[in-house]
Amino acid sequence: MKKYYIKTFGCQMNVYDSHRIAAILQNLGLTEATSPQNADLVIFNTCHIREKAAEKVFSDLGRLNMIREERLAKGLDTVIGVVGCVVQAEDEQIAKRAPFVDFALGPLTYHRLPAVLAQISRRKGEPLIDTEFPAESKFDFLPANTSMGGCSFLAIQEGCNNFCTYCVVPYTRGIETSRPVEDVVKEARRLVEGGSLEINLLGQNVNSYHGEDAGGKERNLAYLLHKLDEIDGLERIRYTTSYPADVDDDLISCHREIKKLMPYLHLPVQSGSDSILKAMNRRHTSGQYLEIIGKLRDANPDLGFSSDFIVGFPGETDADFQATLDLVNKVKFIQAFSFKYSRRAGTPAALMPGQVEEKVKKERLEILQNLLFSYQLKFNKESVGKIMPVLFDNKGRHKGQLIGRTPYMQNLHAALGKECRNKIINVKITGATANSLTGIQEGT
Ligand code: 5AD
Ligand code: SF4
Repeated sequence: MKKYYIKTFGCQMNVYDSHRIAAILQNLGLTEATSPQNADLVIFNTCHIREKAAEKVFSDLGRLNMIREERLAKGLDTVIGVVGCVVQAEDEQIAKRAPFVDFALGPLTYHRLPAVLAQISRRKGEPLIDTEFPAESKFDFLPANTSMGGCSFLAIQEGCNNFCTYCVVPYTRGIETSRPVEDVVKEARRLVEGGSLEINLLGQNVNSYHGEDAGGKERNLAYLLHKLDEIDGLERIRYTTSYPADVDDDLISCHREIKKLMPYLHLPVQSGSDSILKAMNRRHTSGQYLEIIGKLRDANPDLGFSSDFIVGFPGETDADFQATLDLVNKVKFIQAFSFKYSRRAGTPAALMPGQVEEKVKKERLEILQNLLFSYQLKFNKESVGKIMPVLFDNKGRHKGQLIGRTPYMQNLHAALGKECRNKIINVKITGATANSLTGIQEGT
């Protein structure tokens, strides 16, 4: 095997995992292919959060099998691997629906990839599947992480103990584990040495972080943020995704004290109705959520919030849905992600009475998205004329154009040369749509 191709589905954690899988493969001497057609090894890193995401994996696998057959006709072998959350949840389905897959590894066992690849050549028939929840931490076995550019992800926590009744994550990523403080700080230093100006700390429930320090004492996210604040050359810190009930006073103070902490927080609420929140097994009411938002705003009045919403959860009435709209009108989120409830086998909500009709879910989603969109557009329009520091970490579609992120995670396009890539530049905002901004370098 000489060339690999990785396709990533789903969340930022999967993007991070794919980056680390690529490093394993590079250590084995493989190089990245530009397409699956010219790859000897193709890996799909998969998402199971909603039915659509999981089904897309299976349909794309079918297409990949055709590519494998085309290559075979030319005398070229292709090894196909599936990793990530679909494997953890649907290992038997993979063997049944995609028997041409050579191996499948869950999100907690991909560090075993070198051993698996060594075994593949001896494989006959069935895919080689490893969905163990291992005793060891994969992080102790992976090659040292490398910078992803100006902006890097760093996983500090994995898994979830909240068991929201709609969610597969506790079953796919397992129970909560936190990486030790020293490991995180060491990895952050490496990323900064490699050119990262911004680090986004990742975890399914990142603010319940409880990693051990060098003396074996458990420390919280606030402690870790203060440690990272000390790293010279690190300009920006973010963390995602947080659980509202686990936002403690220490963390709130960080938004007052740590200048490197960006003024944008993703804090999923899911619904504005207390009875739906209860049925979802969320450990907060809408009132408590608003109280937390208020405290965070007291700590930093410039904070902008984003959130996740689910419409059409079993039993959701028009009045429940209206409560969600009311909450949106109170918080005025500057960005948001909203979804129709998707029934996931094995989760308690899948068996609840009062499943909502598809038509109603669709209507509610449209109403909610229009409202969220209006606040996002308003916030972006109000940015016009302001000067913001923008981290340009991506090429634009056109030559001489770069794409960056403002402190509020707004995408910004500007006419800038490649010497500005992976730098933070002060930009005057000149235009805005709901999804992106345009600007010019300040002083030009
Ligand atoms: N149906 C719809 N949305 C879901 N999410 C999680 N599980 C489901 C589901 N079964 C959403 C939640 C979560 C985000 C990552 O995905 O809003 O915050
Ligand atoms: Fe899923 Fe998030 Fe709830 Fe955990 S807190 S069960 S990851 S929605």
